[in-house]
Amino acid sequence: MACRIAIDGPAGSGKTTVARLVAQKLGIHYLDTGAMYRIVGLHLYRKGADVKSESLRDYLTDLKIEYVDGTFMVNGSPVGDEIRTPEAGMYASIYATHPDVRAFLTNMQKEICKNRDIVAEGRDIGTVVIPDAEVKIFLVASPEVRAKRRYLELIAKGYDVQYEGILREIIERDENDSSRGIAPLTKAPDAVEIDTSDLSVEEVVDRILELVHLRCKKK
Ligand code: DC
Repeated sequence: MACRIAIDGPAGSGKTTVARLVAQKLGIHYLDTGAMYRIVGLHLYRKGADVKSESLRDYLTDLKIEYVDGTFMVNGSPVGDEIRTPEAGMYASIYATHPDVRAFLTNMQKEICKNRDIVAEGRDIGTVVIPDAEVKIFLVASPEVRAKRRYLELIAKGYDVQYEGILREIIERDENDSSRGIAPLTKAPDAVEIDTSDLSVEEVVDRILELVHLRCKKK
């Protein structure tokens, strides 16, 4: 039996840190679907694509994303840190509302998750990408806690950012991600919700591993 772990939640809820660690501890694959939306968001922004256009398909024909050991190659080159800026996050969130972008990436993600033990994280993993995942987790935390985490993360990377701006961006992205018509950020009915506001990373990881041991049978 496969062990597919879906981790969803809003920006800054701790998905990436936790998902990477769970995958590492279990020795299985890791998929960051947010990175894929960031790659596409940045690409479409640079091309000046209008998110209100009926079709964005023509803009996606020259974009080749390859999944290689948990990271991505974009048109043959490893993806860089430019996708990690708050702006790239906002472009990702904006273009992620378009049906062509969702179809393009959802198909790719379903293919990556097929026949693999994997931890995949995003907004619609438990609802759309792997609706029959063995383990589904929905991480939450207050906007203030999430903004503080993002702020510290970006400062540590040397970005010149302000806490208030990050908080505003997080609230705006929550609104965008939750209110869109297709695949909005929602908790799957069978997902286990974990509030990470007052938990350490290790505590969150341990809770997920307990569920994995209950639900994923040893091969
Ligand atoms: O997880 P992240 O912050 O890197 O994601 C960036 C944006 O991409 C997020 O605001 C919404 C979009 N996204 C999505 O719509 N569906 C996903 N499965 C993952 C991300």
